[in-house]
Order: sequence, then C-alpha cells, then structure tokens
Amino acid sequence: MLLHRAVIPHLRQACRLKSAPSRLYIRACSTDDSLQPQCPSLAFSGDNSSTGGWKVMGTLLGLGAVLAYHDHRCRATQESPHVYTREEVRSHSSPETRIWVTLGCEVFDVTEFVDLHPGGPSKLMLAAGGPLEPFWALYAVHNQPHVREMLAQYKIGELSPEDKVPSTLKTSDPYIDDPVRHPALKVNSQRPFNAEPPAELLTENYITPNPIFFTRNHLPVPNLDPETYRLHVVGPPGGQSLCLSLDDLYKFPRHEITVTLQCAGNRRSEMTQFKEVRGLEWNIGAISTARWAGARLCDVLAKAGHQLCETEAHVCFEGLDSDPTGTAYGASIPLARAMDPEAEVLLAYEMNGQPLPRDHGFPVRVVVPGVVGARHVKWLGKVSVEPEESYSHWQRRDYKGFSPSVDWDTVDFDSAPSIQELPVQSAITEPKDGETVQSGEVTIKGYAWSGGGRAVVRVDVSLDGGLTWHVAELDGEEQRPRKAWAWRLWQLQAPVPAGRKELNIVCKAVDDSYNVQPDTVAPIWNLRGVLSNAWHRVHVHVAP
Ligand code: MTE
Repeated sequence: MLLHRAVIPHLRQACRLKSAPSRLYIRACSTDDSLQPQCPSLAFSGDNSSTGGWKVMGTLLGLGAVLAYHDHRCRATQESPHVYTREEVRSHSSPETRIWVTLGCEVFDVTEFVDLHPGGPSKLMLAAGGPLEPFWALYAVHNQPHVREMLAQYKIGELSPEDKVPSTLKTSDPYIDDPVRHPALKVNSQRPFNAEPPAELLTENYITPNPIFFTRNHLPVPNLDPETYRLHVVGPPGGQSLCLSLDDLYKFPRHEITVTLQCAGNRRSEMTQFKEVRGLEWNIGAISTARWAGARLCDVLAKAGHQLCETEAHVCFEGLDSDPTGTAYGASIPLARAMDPEAEVLLAYEMNGQPLPRDHGFPVRVVVPGVVGARHVKWLGKVSVEPEESYSHWQRRDYKGFSPSVDWDTVDFDSAPSIQELPVQSAITEPKDGETVQSGEVTIKGYAWSGGGRAVVRVDVSLDGGLTWHVAELDGEEQRPRKAWAWRLWQLQAPVPAGRKELNIVCKAVDDSYNVQPDTVAPIWNLRGVLSNAWHRVHVHVAP
C-alpha cells in the first residue's frame, strides 16, 4: 500500500507521458496564456529534451511490471473508460482521497494539477468532488480548446450512464442577472463583460454617452438595492466607523467633475501584435470620459475621523462583486491622494446626470482623477485606511509594469509598484486603419490624455510615418492647471501630398511636463500588456 502511494503519482505522470500526444505538453509550456500551468511538472511530462523526466523514468524502470500494468489501465481507460458514479466522484474531494472533478460525462483526477492552477489552488478546490461547469460558467475563459486538451490529460473515466444527466446539477449562470448592453459596443469578453465603444463613436462627443462608455468587469455585476445599500467606512483606531446609506452620502457637499477613465490595458492589442501578452485584447477604446458627481472622499474620511498621518498609509476599497470564494474586487490609493481636496477623489453616485448605470458601479463607485481605471472601484462596499496597500489580487498581482525582458518565469510582482497615475496617451479614431481616403484633403481625429492631472499641451500628427509633423487643433473643456482630469479631443485637416497612394498616419501627444509617447512598442512591451502608449499608427489608402 505504501509503495502504491509513493509511486502512483509518478506512474500517473509516466502514464500520461506514454498515452497523451507530446504536442499537448509542448504547447502547454510554450504558450503565454494565463490558464497554462507553470511548467516544471509539464517539462518533465512532455519535453522530449528534458533529461530530468527521463531520469525519473529511470528510477521507475525497476517497477516495469507495475508500470506496464498501469499503462495498460490508462489505455483501457481510453478504449473502454472506467465508469464511476457521482457518489464516488464526491468522495474524492481532498488530497488524501485524491481530487476528482467532472466535466460533462467525463471524470478527471486533478490532484497533481491543483497546485499548478493559475487561479490558485483554492479556486480549483471549490469544484473538488463535483462538476466544473458552474465555475467555468463564472470564468468563461476556461472554456477553450487548449484548456480542454490540458484537462484531457487527467481523464480517468466517465460517469455511469444513470449519472450522465445530472438531475441535480443546475449550472446556475452567475451572469444571468448582468444588465442588457448597447449593441454598438465591441465585446472583448462576454463573461465577465468587457467591451469598448467603436473608434468612430469614441470621439463623436467630448462626454461619452453612458450606454457606450467602455466597461471593464472582472466578475458578475451585483444587483444592489439602493434602499438597503450601505457603505462601510472604517474609522481610525479608537474612532467611530460610518455606515452610510445613499441618503447619508447625498448630505455631503456635492462635487462634480469631468474625468477620463482609462484601463491600464487600453491598446493592448498593439502589444500583442509585437509579442504575445496575457490579457483582453483591447483596441483603442478602453478609455471614456464622463461628468461624475458625488461626495468627496476626503470629506467622508474626515467625517469618520481620519487625518493625514506622517507614516505612509493607503485607502483600501472593496467592491460588492465577488467570486465564488467570496473574494471581492479590491484596490487602494495612497492616503495622501485620498485626503487631498485638490485631488478631487469622489465617491460618485451620478454619471452624466444619471444614477450610475449598473455596469459602471451602481449605486456608488470611486472616481480617482488622473489614476488608472483599476483603482476606480465600482459597487463600493467598504473603505478603510491601512498601513499597507490593498491585498487584493488586482492591486498586488496585476496592473503593474515590468521590463520587456521579464517573462512569466522571472516575474516578481512584489518588485514593481502598482500602477497609479498613467502616462501620456493619444490615438487616432478617424480614419480607420485600412480605410481609403479622398485625395485633396484628409481629416484626422483622435483623443489625447495624460495621467496625474497633467494637461495635454500639443498633439503632433504625421502623414508620412513620422518624417514630418503637423500640429493638431485641440478641442474640449479648458484644462485646469494640475487638474486636467479629462481628455482633449483633437483634429487636423491636412492636404494629401499629390501623387501619394497611401498615408502612414501617426499621432503623439505631449503633456505639460513635456512627457512624450515612445515611438514603438518594443521598448515598453511587458508581459501583461499594460501601459501601451506608443505612437498610434494608422495606414490608409488614397483614392486615385
Ligand atoms: N470595480 C469592481 N468592483 N470590479 C471591477 O471589476 N474593474 C476595474 C474598475 N473598478 C472593476 C472595478 C477596472 S480594471 C477598470 S478599468 C474600471 O473599473 C472600469 O470602469 P468602467 O467599467 O466603468 O469603465
């Protein structure tokens, strides 16, 4: 029995090595997708050049007979699969009993994959002894061919015929209650919902209409009752915590500002074109502008008794959206920014004169002018002041920038600061890449914005790939010094040089610190594809 326990994991590995096509392993190790397991065990499993794997095999040679028997069982599983009842599957829900899961009518022993699960072992353990479907419904990103291929390596059998139709399995769809969205939105992922307005609508208006404001959700949209909604503001030690209803929030002085919100992943698709990155393929539309109204965070914190302190502190926000483990979306900003009335951080309850739409945080969200979208926590449930940054995954293990040479084997998330203020950005919304423009004169439009309240002072546009430049005309609201929270829209009417059959249109913005955008992606490429702000380039044909 002891021998059995000791060798069985190796036997399984070896069995997989023999029975599954090696291309699966090579693929699992070489792609960049976040759902791939970390490589060590897989390198052993399938990398033909891996001597380590064969060494382990060598140690198993003495167990040839057992191995042959086990291999035979594996093949037998493929030919006439072993049949299990749901009851049996249920009894395998811990490392001691081994961890089994089902998908459809198939049964998998994922014991050895649990620690490799990219979302963390605890997430996979939620499905232990039961079906994966309810979790795949929540994280739809699992339902992809390469994930299914990977799972196939762990197949040990099938459910008994009477258990195949799971009478009790209601794959309750956690997104069933998500709001209806505008059809113009370009959807990057349906579950969770992530979408951007098409470029041609993005700069139609200085203020982005609510229905086409880009949406970045990590989880299902909570459906909150404004009557029972409460915001918990934790007081300082010895002080009093607040439990605020919407009416309580309305009693604070109302503050209204125009703020552009940009996701750190805006324009990620351009980074992917250079070299693959992990993340949603945002085009140029993960950015939008609204007029926000609400209570100033500094007023609410002061009411709870908080003051600026000498030591570094952070204001942590928790959303009311959560995953099946109950983990909520969270993020933080430095206390100094939160307490600064000039920073105008809002607990917003209105967007463009309307209550916040559900996708954008109804009934209350944080708006942090000049700061990356990830810190504008929606469906705000809790605010606290802590000595450390939020421990949320999205503060500590995401939304950070790295050197182009850092890869998933070498990345150290603790070594990089979380993104707060964003760098200067601009993009061309008209004409579109590949379009044909008339000869004579061309109209070029776009947006430009910089983080930290830095105003855009100039947008340069080139028709010849950056050899010569025109200065675009800036439109939009006047920008306040150090409080330029919103974008400038810009346009340029330029003569098309005679005889040109195509134009390589490029734009770049300059902010009031004279920060400029880098000319190419290569020197700013990073494995998460964030902070993508190289010159934006559009190639068009000229009508004869
Ligand atoms: N807040 C919660 N509670 N949950 C989320 O998924 N996404 C964040 C931020 N706040 C998020 C959140 C990210 S990454 C961005 S870019 C902005 O919300 C997007 O805001 P929007 O959907 O209103 O455009």
